[in-house]
Amino acid sequence: MAEAALVESTEPMEKIGVGIVGAGDRGIYCMGESIVALTRETGLTVRGIFDIIPERSYEAKEHLENLYAEESIDQKVRVYGEFEAILADPGCHMVLVTNHTNQHRSHAVAALEAGKKVYLDKPISVTREDADRIVEAARKNPLIMGFTRRYEKSWVTTKRLLESGAIGTLQMMEITSIIPYHRYLQTWHRKRAQSGGAINDKNSHHFDVFNWMAGEYPEYLTAVGGRSSVFPVEENAPESCRVCSRECPYRRDPNSATTAGGSLLRLDSWRNAEEEVEKIDTCVYAPGADISDHALVTVVYPSGVKASLFFAIFGPDTKDQETMILVGEKGKITLNRHEGLVTLVSEYGNKEEVFDCRGDDFATSHFGADRELARALRAFYDGDTPVASAVDGLVSLDMVLATQESIQRSGQPVRIGARAESTV
Ligand SMILES: NC(=O)c1ccc[n+]([C@@H]2O[C@H](COP(=O)([O-])OP(=O)(O)OC[C@H]3O[C@@H](n4cnc5c(N)ncnc54)[C@H](O)[C@@H]3O)[C@@H](O)[C@H]2O)c1
Repeated sequence: MAEAALVESTEPMEKIGVGIVGAGDRGIYCMGESIVALTRETGLTVRGIFDIIPERSYEAKEHLENLYAEESIDQKVRVYGEFEAILADPGCHMVLVTNHTNQHRSHAVAALEAGKKVYLDKPISVTREDADRIVEAARKNPLIMGFTRRYEKSWVTTKRLLESGAIGTLQMMEITSIIPYHRYLQTWHRKRAQSGGAINDKNSHHFDVFNWMAGEYPEYLTAVGGRSSVFPVEENAPESCRVCSRECPYRRDPNSATTAGGSLLRLDSWRNAEEEVEKIDTCVYAPGADISDHALVTVVYPSGVKASLFFAIFGPDTKDQETMILVGEKGKITLNRHEGLVTLVSEYGNKEEVFDCRGDDFATSHFGADRELARALRAFYDGDTPVASAVDGLVSLDMVLATQESIQRSGQPVRIGARAESTV
């Protein structure tokens, strides 16, 4: 075993340099880690990092270099002092855009125009104008969109079973997503101008899944939702968890050894952040958040397929927090994301099969999807067409914007992609 590892580590390694924009949860602790773990398999190596807060780049550099050392790979990670240095670096072949959603446009467009291979995280943007500009640049140099469910085994298995004809023709879809993501009120996500809100950040995935399963883009949707009574605004709320001593189920306290809420809390640049946009422990009751915390959305497709989304960022942490059901005339597919299980009932109810979709990487980020995505990045580098394009990102954003508009209009239908003439 030891001998095999030694031989592997001394083999010359092909290096495809990756530059990461945004040294946060997604860029480093999901994608960066996945790229490091698969470096020998894919040839992709993290070449450098740019974050608008340099301290975060240095923390991320140290973290990734330690991971490379654990893999017995001698890889130094650069810190770029400015974004343009990534574009000017001939050793950087691929750019991962994983910064705040309202910042995606400038970095994605510049990297595409510089001829780099670009991975753009979902959601594509906050505004339609930004998405249009990204799509325009991606016409000449296609990018790969980070809709992770397209790489996650349970969703991929569901798509394959649907295409096999086992349930007949798809008629109806339902996604339930009841997730305890109060962090959306504690981080930069709390302002719609920065993130597009929870509906953009989370439901952009779900809308993309609906479109992927349906194999078409939707005609219109209706929605109700908004801000529930779960997180009432308190004018005198504490600024952040770290200066608060109240008992609170939503505590995200960087100074508490027992706090839940992710590894970033332990890093200085995150635990000491002062600006609200940089903080990750703003009080959930603090004024200023303008995002929805729940939504019920009904989507109608040109073929007659109908889809329903049941979404909230409150509620308990459960094993069935994200599920999907597909119904055809002959059968039904039920997906339980957190358990990695897909159940197919076919032949009008006479046959039932359960597919275990966990696989070796299930315990890694996004139930293994990020590792699969790292493999897909290599295939994309080699010329494969990505399974999710910039246009898929734009349509998903249109559905987000239509949802927000329909909520504002008390559930009136809103056409997708033609919001100027929005009432159906
Ligand atoms: N595909 C997925 O499943 C998935 C999961 C999580 C997040 N995301 C997306 O990834 C993006 C980042 O989210 P996150 O959770 O990592 O946020 P984060 O707050 O953990 O990290 C974002 C980082 O970007 C940096 N940043 C902000 N503006 C910048 C700029 N102009 N230039 C360079 N760096 C900048 C911030 O300082 C921060 O370090 C978002 O668009 C989010 O929706 C996707």
